[in-house]
Amino acid sequence: MNDKPRVSAALFLLTAMFLLLTVSFSRRGWMEPPPLKANALLDPELVRPTTMRTSYAQLIRVQADLSDFDCYACHETNKPPTLRFDGSNNLVIPKEHSDIVMAHGQHGRNNNCFNCHNEQNLLLLQTRDGRQLKLENCPPLCGSCHGPTYRDWEAGAHGRTGGFWKKEAGQTTRLICADCHDPHSPRIGTRTPLPPPHPLHGAGRAWAETEH
Ligand code: HEC
Ligand code: HEC
Ligand code: HEC
Ligand code: HEC
Repeated sequence: MNDKPRVSAALFLLTAMFLLLTVSFSRRGWMEPPPLKANALLDPELVRPTTMRTSYAQLIRVQADLSDFDCYACHETNKPPTLRFDGSNNLVIPKEHSDIVMAHGQHGRNNNCFNCHNEQNLLLLQTRDGRQLKLENCPPLCGSCHGPTYRDWEAGAHGRTGGFWKKEAGQTTRLICADCHDPHSPRIGTRTPLPPPHPLHGAGRAWAETEH
């Protein structure tokens, strides 16, 4: 039996196939990965490492302008400010304090300035049980009405813990209520959620961008 013609046919076929592969590898077009879309830039606001608001305590630490807190630059000592109310018993905020929007709770239930500020000494806060606190030390004040949240906060379950767990490595930092809540309008509004994870690899990204 003569196998020669079949062998050369097979060899010819193999050579042709390898040539075809060489040509297609050199052109590469068909095996190119899908073109990468440019990464959408993240809104820097979403990853801002600061707190939601800047409390008095923070302003003191960074030595910012504290004139808003210098109550007796405008008020007279020994003369408590009088609270004014409109016809429907709503507190009227004077224009000098127009930056204050009172909306503590949903029914204006805690809008009385002197529930928190000491009318005899505006530089102090006063708790329900008569303790006097510095204006930058609000947690015990908030805690005097929000007991359960205060206990959570003390235990580290409410508010953010930062810094170090290990005492030897450094300090553990805690945020105070006023770093996140505006005491006058403490409700925290809805926030824009962060975008989903962003695989850098093209194939992963193509997968992430398809509906599942
Ligand atoms: C820029 C000047 C200015 C500063 C600073 C200032 N106040 Fe006043 N405040 C006023 C004026 C003016 C009124 C209205 C007249 C009045 O009641 O004495 C007022 C009214 C008030 C009232 C009564 C509000 C109402 O609704 O009737 C309170 C409470 C008060 N101030 C607290 C404070 C506290 C606490 C500070 C400091 C943390 C402070 N103020 C700092 C000017 C100021
Ligand atoms: C729930 C407690 C609470 C009530 C009610 C309250 N305050 Fe305050 N207020 C605070 C605390 C706490 C601070 C310090 C905020 C900080 O650390 O940033 C403050 C800060 C201020 C300041 C200085 C900074 C600023 O925001 O302008 C003024 C002025 C002030 N309050 C006036 C008033 C007046 C006027 C009212 C009533 C209309 C009032 N507050 C009602 C707790 C309260
Ligand atoms: C004198 C008592 C009192 C003090 C002091 C007080 N609160 Fe409140 N707080 C209330 C009441 C009353 C409500 C309203 C509850 C309701 O409407 O159901 C409330 C509601 C709230 C809410 C929910 C807001 C919303 O609109 O749903 C937050 C958050 C809050 N307080 C945070 C604070 C913080 C932070 C402090 C300290 C700066 C503070 N509170 C001090 C009495 C107090
Ligand atoms: C790191 C920021 C942060 C700190 C610090 C913080 N809170 Fe809050 N707090 C929040 C957020 C966020 C929510 C949830 C708002 C929501 O669910 O929409 C909240 C919710 C609340 C509520 C409403 C709970 C409810 O069930 O509706 C109260 C009351 C409250 N905080 C009080 C406090 C008090 C008092 C302190 C200080 C002892 C404090 N917070 C410290 C961020 C903070």
